[in-house]
Amino acid sequence: MAFETIIVDVEDHVALIKLNRPDALNALNAQLVGELCTALEEADANDKVRCIILTGSDKAFAAGADIKEMSTKSFVEVYGENLFAMVNDRIIAIRKPIIAAVSGYALGGGCELAMLCDFIIASDTAKFGQPEINLGVIAGIGGTQRLTRFVGKSKSMDMNLTGRFMNAEEAERAGLVSRVVPAKKLLEEATSAAQKIAEKSSLTTAAAKEAVNRSYELTLNEGILFERRVFHSMFATEDQKEGMAAFLEKRQAQFRDK
Ligand code: CAA
Repeated sequence: MAFETIIVDVEDHVALIKLNRPDALNALNAQLVGELCTALEEADANDKVRCIILTGSDKAFAAGADIKEMSTKSFVEVYGENLFAMVNDRIIAIRKPIIAAVSGYALGGGCELAMLCDFIIASDTAKFGQPEINLGVIAGIGGTQRLTRFVGKSKSMDMNLTGRFMNAEEAERAGLVSRVVPAKKLLEEATSAAQKIAEKSSLTTAAAKEAVNRSYELTLNEGILFERRVFHSMFATEDQKEGMAAFLEKRQAQFRDK
């Protein structure tokens, strides 16, 4: 499918999806959100893709939901269309790992989109924030929920109530991002992480993603039971035999997703 607000490139088993509305700092309008979800679903269904990177421009990963598009909507409209339910639900249904490579602004829906990915690699120029409070609303795609789980109540309240931005260093310290790299190295580092993931069995990367995500939904004991059962189920795969044999034979494993 031809896209107008994103650019998709598949190379060496990695799908790179770049948000591309530079004039609006990649603000998430309905078209971009629809195209992004379609591209993610296509990458999820594409056998050649084993990991996905989502990125923006140097200046902005995304500056939030499109304020122009939203500004005149009524309660009846946003409630009626269940605004932003679709983007949340379609992205959490993606089974392949998604890395957010964030440079510049990741604000409001942009920060929430980064948090919908499986982990965030940030450039040293990244700025995260939930400034919806300045617009007379609150976050609508997880900014009060996921951010709180990432950084804890105090910092989440600070971000959501004052609307201030966190720089990359603070975001790493707080546990929002997994690593910070110089801006020029952002895509190189994200691609290298994606390629490491792409080398694994896709059965195990999907299982690991599913198990980590369950930790948000389950009690500790239920989560550990879920993990153990999935761990047990891996012993039904050829890739488990291959992975352990390769270790014992001191060679590189050749996974076949079986
Ligand atoms: N929606 C629509 N357009 C946006 C936008 C947004 N969220 N953010 C930036 N733009 C547009 C600006 O309107 C401007 O367009 P024009 O040139 O046509 O005027 C262009 O992008 C460049 O922006 P600025 O001139 O403002 O650039 P700057 O460098 O001076 O400032 C910024 C950058 C601090 C990110 C500033 O643009 C800004 O504060 N943006 C809004 C951030 C925000 O409030 N995000 C939350 C949105 S609500 C939300 O996301 C709800 C939710 O949870 C789902």
